[in-house]
Amino acid sequence: MASKKNNKNNATPKAPWGKLTPEKKRMLLLGSASAFFGLVALAVGVFWLPDSNRPRITPQTVAQGKALFQANCAVCHGEEGIGQDPANPKGGMSNDGKFVAPSMDKNGHAFHHPESALFETIKNGSMASDSPMRGWANRLKDEEIWALIDYIESLWPPELLQFYRANISTKS
Ligand code: HEC
Repeated sequence: MASKKNNKNNATPKAPWGKLTPEKKRMLLLGSASAFFGLVALAVGVFWLPDSNRPRITPQTVAQGKALFQANCAVCHGEEGIGQDPANPKGGMSNDGKFVAPSMDKNGHAFHHPESALFETIKNGSMASDSPMRGWANRLKDEEIWALIDYIESLWPPELLQFYRANISTKS
């Protein structure tokens, strides 16, 4: 053992790698790179086929979305997105004809809408021109809107999120 450690720059024992021709090295590298990306693609495909321009969800984007939600949205949609009137989580109209902001959690209907529709509503506002839900395009960047969506989705129980991914999220 000790004698092996004595070879040149103290490196590990001579690898067969050193003996390969550049041609063979390239092929080996290409082979392992495509195997690696193949596995990644498979993993992503099995769990979820993402919208091509949708940024990845990470714990950081969820935390960013939560902070943005508390600062900008909770005033109407409630803390933790429980809705303006928790007794009426689907929102709609109050008896005196005012818009009620719906909940964002499993009691609301945000999960009925594909991500593209949630994005559109947050960015450009409600289709109803008299709705208090106005667009945030000039106040939030697209990445921030996606972070808000990541946070909203984090409010849903795992079964609902799974159903959403399988049936709704990427529909247009
Ligand atoms: C001034 C009150 C108000 C603020 C602030 C507000 N909203 Fe809304 N939002 C509403 C109301 C009311 C509705 C429902 C009425 C409508 O769709 O026209 C709504 C609808 C929505 C919907 C559609 C929900 C569904 O189930 O169809 C989403 C998503 C949404 N808001 C997200 C946000 C986000 C994210 C923010 C913060 C960046 C935000 N809202 C800020 C009042 C508000």
